[in-house]
Amino acid sequence: MQITRHPPVKTSLEPSNHPYLTGPWTPLHEEVDVPELRVIEGAIPADIDGIYLRNTENQVHQPLGRHHPFDGDAMIHQVNISGGKASYRNRFVRTHCFEAEQIAGRSLWGGLMDPWGTSVRPGFGAHGGLKDTGSTDIIVHAGTAYATLYQCGEAWMLDPVTLASRGKAPWVPLDGISAHPKVDEGTGEMMFFNYSKHAPFMHYGVVDRAGALVHYVPIPLPGPRLPHDMAITPNWSILNDMPLYWDEELLGRNIHAARLHEGVPTRFALIPRYGQPQDIRWFEAAPTYVLHWTNAWEEGDEVILEGYHQAKPMPDPLEEMGRYSHMMAYVDEHSFQSRLHRWRFNITTGETREERLSERIVEFGMINPKFAMHKSRYVWSTTTRPGWFLFNGYVRHDTETGEEQVYRLPEGVYASESPMIPRTGATNEDDGYLVTFLIDENTGTSECAILDASDITKGPICRLALPHKICSGTHSVWVEHDQLRADAAFRAKAFAAA
Ligand SMILES: [Fe+2]
Repeated sequence: MQITRHPPVKTSLEPSNHPYLTGPWTPLHEEVDVPELRVIEGAIPADIDGIYLRNTENQVHQPLGRHHPFDGDAMIHQVNISGGKASYRNRFVRTHCFEAEQIAGRSLWGGLMDPWGTSVRPGFGAHGGLKDTGSTDIIVHAGTAYATLYQCGEAWMLDPVTLASRGKAPWVPLDGISAHPKVDEGTGEMMFFNYSKHAPFMHYGVVDRAGALVHYVPIPLPGPRLPHDMAITPNWSILNDMPLYWDEELLGRNIHAARLHEGVPTRFALIPRYGQPQDIRWFEAAPTYVLHWTNAWEEGDEVILEGYHQAKPMPDPLEEMGRYSHMMAYVDEHSFQSRLHRWRFNITTGETREERLSERIVEFGMINPKFAMHKSRYVWSTTTRPGWFLFNGYVRHDTETGEEQVYRLPEGVYASESPMIPRTGATNEDDGYLVTFLIDENTGTSECAILDASDITKGPICRLALPHKICSGTHSVWVEHDQLRADAAFRAKAFAAA
């Protein structure tokens, strides 16, 4: 395997027994390019033509306090597949905080679990004391990859092909951008939100295909909230106000402790894509917390939203994990008990109806991207090892029949969030692949794996050797080369017209 290694980054991280700095969460500090990955098993399907990007919380320096897995620095792992061949590269996201810590040679910011004042530089995020890492999410909009942080920060831009840094997006408002902006591939618009500790506590915006902020309005909330994701349909954007948020009294003392507020409903804000605050339609639902939505669409008078309902948004601490007992529970799906769920909002009557779609504990799901914003039938969720934020398998849900396929990875092997890639020319919704990175604790190696989305029980149908063992992480995206070519043509035409 031909490997180009880049100059090493400075790291001050010391060996530890931290549960999220060891094993499959051991940070990787090497950046490489591999022009062609070696096939271990099977063959790369010829009808895959695009790029898989995955963001990783990959800690570089010795934490100032108690490390939380969401504190890590952003590293993007990329597999570029075309013509039955695949290349690989990985890069840190060169955020301003990453660069400042490279110059300092040490951590300058504390993390989510640290007391106020731990950071030695002014902090960022809705929290206000964090490092702006960009390490939560990765999406591609109009030919640019954006790495974003769940606590709101800048939108860090990269070339999706070369992973070269393009700096921070110029249109990001003062309160930043949350993770999970949503792209309408048909119109080229990107919808986003942010949240903060000051009124109106949330904003919503639209960026057009030319990369200009064309809409930005307040979504007034009763106080600081902790939304994580949003959804879109062709006409509506869906924001949320859930009863898990920072305890107000503790917040007055700069203590950021999330608490489930008993008796407070879940609220959804449905705003027309270019709506004003007075156009918001509010819907109430049973109390819960939801990290991720899988899809939303319109059917007659109804707007339908699917995602992962949590039965226990404030989970019991995992006492056996000692000083990390709360953190371990809050990142453990089996503790907060997330299940696939559907909400139906009736625009005419204002009523909400809810239904559970599966009894399985799952999260981090994907749909066929060609069915985004339209009625979809299949969801590919991940399962996790109980007690841990580690993906150990998949469930393919058929939400029409209730049928479920299950695939469990071998013991000690963990997946990444796994986008669904529609097969070129596919007519069935489930005709395509899942692509993922695997971390094998038994061998100390990593792979890129491809599964048949219509029959995940077969396991990987193609396995590619990666040049190093990567660190576990969170979000990912798949972008077709056709989409990147269309975006490049749009930019060229816009430039010529200017
Ligand atoms: Fe997320």
